[in-house]
Amino acid sequence: MTATPLADGGDGHLPDGVEPRTFDGDQRLATRGEPVYGEPVQDGWRAWDPGRSKLGAMLGRGVETGFAGGDTVLYLGAASGTTVSHVADFAGPTYAVEFAPRPARDLVRAAESRPNLFPLLKDARKPATYAHVVESGVDVLFQDVATRGQGEVACRNRQFLADDGWLVATIKARSEDVTGPTEVTFGHVVETIESEYEVVTTERMDPLHEDHLAVVARPR
Ligand SMILES: C[S@@+](CC[C@H](N)C(=O)[O-])C[C@H]1O[C@@H](n2cnc3c(N)ncnc32)[C@H](O)[C@@H]1O
Repeated sequence: MTATPLADGGDGHLPDGVEPRTFDGDQRLATRGEPVYGEPVQDGWRAWDPGRSKLGAMLGRGVETGFAGGDTVLYLGAASGTTVSHVADFAGPTYAVEFAPRPARDLVRAAESRPNLFPLLKDARKPATYAHVVESGVDVLFQDVATRGQGEVACRNRQFLADDGWLVATIKARSEDVTGPTEVTFGHVVETIESEYEVVTTERMDPLHEDHLAVVARPR
């Protein structure tokens, strides 16, 4: 479990249902739910590991993501459910897209105790394949897909987002271009995102998540 100091600016940016709690003397963000990845639990609150979760790291650093308790969420790149399980603990309906069958099996397990978490074994580059399941007008589109074309994925899935919703994306430079300069790669992805969104914040996620950029944006 990675411990990082929480942001000094108070916890006004935290969605309802996410709270700083003390675990073994350290302050960590936590949500209420069944444990998923061996994280410590106290009084029903599960510690959220910012070293394993880019969203956990963003919230720990005080980034304003737009997430609010009870939101409807479309989450792309859910993997085995580490982060999306925390999201489902504080959000409303949470649609979790993952295209790799192996992690998706663990994701299904994480969903067993979360009736608002809906795993979808789908390719995030092909939103037409889940458009019949995901309601339109979601409050937050969260994206953490390790694939080339991360900007295009955000644009193609814009169709599900409410006009006053939020895109929260973590961009992995090495998935776009293994050898190219990271800043140039981020520039290209952000430029693509800007064709459909107005970018509000970008923030490098080093050192916890090297070569990753957090992007928060609103639909145009
Ligand atoms: C960094 S991991 C996600 C970690 C997860 N968001 C978390 O914090 O718990 C990236 C995931 O994206 C998935 N992925 C990559 N390309 C995808 C695509 N086109 N559609 C759906 N999932 C994809 C990978 O299988 C992998 O599980």
